[in-house]
Amino acid sequence: MIDANVQRARTKTLTINDQAFSARSDQTILQVARENNIDIPTLCAIEGLSDIGACRLCLVEIAGQRELKPACTTRIKDGMVVSTDTERLRKHRKTILSFLFAERNHICSVCVSNAHCELQKMGAKVGLTHVEVPYLYPKLQVDASHRRFINDPNRCILCLRCVRVCDEIEGAHILDVFARGLEARIIAEMGRPWGESENCTECGKCVQVCPTGALNEKGLSVAEQHKRRGFLPYLTTMKRGR
Ligand code: SF4
Ligand code: SF4
Ligand code: FES
Repeated sequence: MIDANVQRARTKTLTINDQAFSARSDQTILQVARENNIDIPTLCAIEGLSDIGACRLCLVEIAGQRELKPACTTRIKDGMVVSTDTERLRKHRKTILSFLFAERNHICSVCVSNAHCELQKMGAKVGLTHVEVPYLYPKLQVDASHRRFINDPNRCILCLRCVRVCDEIEGAHILDVFARGLEARIIAEMGRPWGESENCTECGKCVQVCPTGALNEKGLSVAEQHKRRGFLPYLTTMKRGR
């Protein structure tokens, strides 16, 4: 049985949106928020994979701190006062999403993930009616060399979910990020065509966790391109229990 003092030391109290909560000291703001049905928009975070704070969509305000902090990677502290839904944050989320849409060629009407896309849904959720920054229209080559999958960097938001799932869950570590800025894209096995990869197990986990149409399955219609993610929390629990 855990000693009462140890138990107390492991519990912290904080306020989120004027409501008081107790939580474990090793939890992040996002975990506490989700456990208590407080919605914080996210794109790179996904239950079952490590948190990397890449998309910056989940930023929240913490009283006494000028900078916004990512809820997915910020651990809670005793007495922390967090706001998740202020005018500043609503504006920030629209700006982040504007950059994501403008950076690549997200033309939803001709995308395989149209109507099943997390980026598209997030745009609607935060009320993004138009993009205020200029579109960059990069020319990025599609890799369709894999027998079963396609990698279209024009739809990629560099959330690195695919890299993490291949490494952390499948244990294959086929995928990585190559280059920076506009040229940044996901590559397989140090840049060889994905179809020539000797170690890709074709498990499809990367495709299933991809939030957009960047990774998709060949031979499926747009209506069939639903991503299936149910396996992830289960496999993560199994892995941790090993
Ligand atoms: S199909 Fe599986 S092994 Fe191949 S790149 Fe995707 S996650 Fe990695
Ligand atoms: S290919 Fe998909 S999962 Fe991978 S970084 Fe791009 S958007 Fe994220
Ligand atoms: S969800 Fe936290 S930075 Fe992307």
